Amino acid sequence: MPLASTACRSRASATSGYPHPASARALRRHTDSTVRRVSARLLIRDLAQVATPAGRSAPLRGSDLATVDVLEDAYVLCADGRIEAVGRMRELSGIPGAVVEFDGRGRCAIPGLVDCHTHACFLGDRVAEFDLRARGASYEELHAAGGGILATVRATRAGSEADLLAAVQRHRRAMLRMGTTTFEAKSGYGLDRETELASLTAIRAAGGIPTWLGAHSVPPEFADADAYLDFALDEVLPRASSLAESADVFVEDAAFDVRQARRYLEACRDAGLAPRLHGDQFTEQGAIELAIEVGARSVDHLEATGERGVRTLAASDVAGVLLPASALFLDRPMPPARALVAAGAVVALATDFNPGSAFCESLPLVCSLACTQLGLSPAEALAASTVNAAQVLGRSDRKGRLAPGYDADVVLLEAPDWRYLAYHLAGQVVADVFVAGEPAGATEPAATRA
Ligand code: NIG
Ligand code: FE
Repeated sequence: MPLASTACRSRASATSGYPHPASARALRRHTDSTVRRVSARLLIRDLAQVATPAGRSAPLRGSDLATVDVLEDAYVLCADGRIEAVGRMRELSGIPGAVVEFDGRGRCAIPGLVDCHTHACFLGDRVAEFDLRARGASYEELHAAGGGILATVRATRAGSEADLLAAVQRHRRAMLRMGTTTFEAKSGYGLDRETELASLTAIRAAGGIPTWLGAHSVPPEFADADAYLDFALDEVLPRASSLAESADVFVEDAAFDVRQARRYLEACRDAGLAPRLHGDQFTEQGAIELAIEVGARSVDHLEATGERGVRTLAASDVAGVLLPASALFLDRPMPPARALVAAGAVVALATDFNPGSAFCESLPLVCSLACTQLGLSPAEALAASTVNAAQVLGRSDRKGRLAPGYDADVVLLEAPDWRYLAYHLAGQVVADVFVAGEPAGATEPAATRA
């Protein structure tokens, strides 16, 4: 099934011949200078497969989530940061102008992965807590004892703005190596004005899409959640609203209740931020109903969601963001993914990368967990970590597909079949990553152009 646009095919056939393919290694050696200096088109050629969620609509629900178009022996042509054409090698007759070629032999192309839920702006680690948990302590107990999120708040407040930027850049490089070309990251480990704003600034400077998680936990200098929200909404929101795109709240016994979350999200929405929620992670508190009420983009976690919640979410336009690495890391029940898809809910996948509940930057691993633990097929996992994740970030018109007009964010898998993305458990499956038509290494530190 040809994916190249008619316009692109006729342009290609209007000229004859094209340069000999550079070897992948040769191109890698010349990426920084060659690709930029001549601003040529990039032709990724001789790919074993090009796989992309089908169609152009978003979000994908129900059976549409499982429709992936696969072209064998194919190419991807990129120009000016966008995908110009996708097609079969035998249909490629020539391309006018300067072309840089990349030999894709033995590899499969998929869209750049989109991580729509991370907490990538933090300092320090929680390896000692990990050790305690491995020996029986629970995440909730550690949190109640002043560890958990508040331990990372202490470490993050102690650093400088430069430290924060360096940390997000480091995590961003790890994500890129694992095929994530677009990432969201939340603040929420500052919980004071200076550190929250520095976090949002660092996330943006590192190429991420910032979310103000101003309601992550109640810091110790406040008597209660209401007093903290008075401060956060009066003192931080006015500036956070110009740095972030979304606002997030942790709805849980040990964090914020539904009344407090409503107050926070309504104020943020009125200031122009798109509401999102951490909900049903440990207990059902009414987060799904609140998400629908405030017109949220997503409600994330859902490990504790029951049948009623599944039905309610499926009847709405709010996406359920599933975080199986977090459920695995905390030994919690997996979210009811199959029931959500069957009921017609919008589902996306993300890592939840953070130092406490999911120290994992790998969306390929999340796709493996989706197939082995959540009952999703590889096709559903691909769509949930590309198109639907891009929808959660308000970018599904540009990101999440390999089709003409989309951003040229392309991941090459070292594999004969694109389903190795989920099949190769914790494998080094990602071989090459292109962001906006350039090898990812050439675009640091602003690797994604959000
Ligand atoms: O999504 N649940 C709330 N926040 C994070 C965990 C943060 C942490 O443990 O540091 C989550 O799991
Ligand atoms: Fe989270």
